[in-house]
Amino acid sequence: MSIPILQMRGIQKRFPGVHALKGVDLDVGVGEVVALLGENGAGKSTLMKVLGGVHAPDAGEILLDGAPVTIRNVSEASKRGIAFIHQELNVLDNLDVASNVFLGREAIWGGPMRLVDTRKMYDQTAKYLKRLGLDVRPDTPLSKLSIAQQQLVEIAKALSLNARLLIMDEPTSSLTLTETERLLGVVRDLRSEGAGIIYVTHRLMEVKEIADRAVVLRLLLVERRKAGMCVEEVRHECEV
Ligand SMILES: Nc1ncnc2c1ncn2[C@@H]1O[C@H](COP(=O)(O)OP(=O)(O)OP(=O)(O)O)[C@@H](O)[C@H]1O
Ligand SMILES: [Mg+2]
Repeated sequence: MSIPILQMRGIQKRFPGVHALKGVDLDVGVGEVVALLGENGAGKSTLMKVLGGVHAPDAGEILLDGAPVTIRNVSEASKRGIAFIHQELNVLDNLDVASNVFLGREAIWGGPMRLVDTRKMYDQTAKYLKRLGLDVRPDTPLSKLSIAQQQLVEIAKALSLNARLLIMDEPTSSLTLTETERLLGVVRDLRSEGAGIIYVTHRLMEVKEIADRAVVLRLLLVERRKAGMCVEEVRHECEV
C-alpha cells in the first residue's frame, strides 16, 4: 500500500472555553476523496484550518508523504501543495477575477521592472474558469459576480495552485445544482490525477456521489463545567 499523502495524528486544539479538537486522526491517500462530516460546531473547519496553516495545533502531528511537517502559516501550506477552499468567502471584491486567482503570486516578467505578466495571468484564468463552467471574463470585477460565482473563483484559485491536497470546506453551500455537478466533476478529475481531497459537507447525497470514505467528527461527551464563565465541550471523532 502506498504511503498516504496526509496523516494527522492526535490533533488537539483549544479555544477559550472550547476544546474544539481532542486527539483527532485523519488520513488521506493518493487519489482519495475523504468526506469530513459532523454536526455544526463539531470542529471540521478547525481541523482544516490546522492543516491549512491558519491555526497552530496545541498538540499532535502532521505527516505529508510520511514525513513529519510543521505548517506555520498559510503560505507554507500552499508551498507544500495544500489548497484550501474556505467555508467563508476569501476573495477581494475590489479586484478582478484573474487578480483574485493569482493573488500574492502574480505571474512576473523577469525584467528590472518586475512587471506583472497580465496577459499570461488572464489566459490562465480563462482556462480555469472554462473548466469550472464559469462564464465570465477574467477581467470582470469580483463585485459584479454573484456569491456562487465568487465561490467558483475561489475554487479556480485552488486549481491554479496545482495542489496535491485539496481542502474543500462546504464548497457547494451557495452553488446551484448544475454548478455542484460541475464541481463534483472537477473533484473526480483531480482524484484521477492523484490528488487527495478532503470534502467537508453536510449533504449526504454529495458524500454518496463523490467520497471514497467518510470520517465523522462527533460530539462524544459534553462536559459543562460551570466554573465562572467556563463551559467546556470535549469532542472526538470516529470513522464510518
Ligand atoms: N477562532 C475561534 N475562536 C474561538 N472559538 C472557535 C474559533 N473557531 C471555532 N471555534 C469554536 O470551535 C468549535 C468548532 O468550530 P468549527 O467551526 O470548527 O465547527 P464546524 O464543524 O466547522 O461547524 P460548521 O458545520 O457549522 O461549519 C465551535 O464550538 C466554535 O465555536
Ligand atoms: Mg465549518
